[in-house]
Amino acid sequence: MRQIIIAGNWKMNKGLFETEQFCKELVQFATTHHEERVRMIIAPAFPFLKIASTLLLGQPVGISAQDVSSHEDGAFTGEISASMLSSLEMQFCIIGHSERRQYHQESDTGVRDKQLILREYGIKPILCIGETLAQRDAGETSAVLISQLEGCFKDVPLESGEEVIVAYEPVWAIGTGRTASPAQAQEAHALIRNWFEENYNPEIAAAIHILYGGSVKPDNIVELLSCPDIDGGLIGGAALKLESYVQMVQSATKLIQSR
Ligand code: PGA
Repeated sequence: MRQIIIAGNWKMNKGLFETEQFCKELVQFATTHHEERVRMIIAPAFPFLKIASTLLLGQPVGISAQDVSSHEDGAFTGEISASMLSSLEMQFCIIGHSERRQYHQESDTGVRDKQLILREYGIKPILCIGETLAQRDAGETSAVLISQLEGCFKDVPLESGEEVIVAYEPVWAIGTGRTASPAQAQEAHALIRNWFEENYNPEIAAAIHILYGGSVKPDNIVELLSCPDIDGGLIGGAALKLESYVQMVQSATKLIQSR
């Protein structure tokens, strides 16, 4: 049975002080959160992963990195390896975010390599795909998503579907305030789930979590999460403030308990 995952992608925001403050306040909420079907994840910047996991130790909040090197170790100045993240006991790592693809020329092949190395170290990838506005306007959304899935999962084994989380993030909806309508998002999510059914099997397709990302906020999260194939959100701006992050977790909790 799939959970609802509310993942906050902090991007390049929050220094040490803000990270500590958020985590300390989140602990207060987390101790009151007993709904196991709603999973919290936060993704602080690299330097603050350790302090975040220390402050949230024992709480039902997963910690995620925002990227990883596809290399094992060695002369890669500025890079962070999967073994380093594993030594911090990281549980999750975002890969293939559209900002990485856009500003750092990341390819599907590179994202595939990152997926494999993370899994080798027992870290669950949150693997992002999504089309640009030009691609959507040209009617290429399905073709783009399928080609990204083919590249990111080429010869990648899956046994249960629990090994990876997929995040569908239409590039035109990220940080723009323009959310995909629930119908648009559901259509893409159904296509992604169907791809796993065709390329793996129905059990894996039913088990894999597919998050939606792109201007998710307290105002629109319920209608998005009400779609059958949307299993949570990968949330940037609206996850930076504790109040709105908590509000979204509470909405998800209410929704799942009403099902
Ligand atoms: P946003 O970012 O919620 O600010 O649109 C989402 C993301 O990029 O993961």
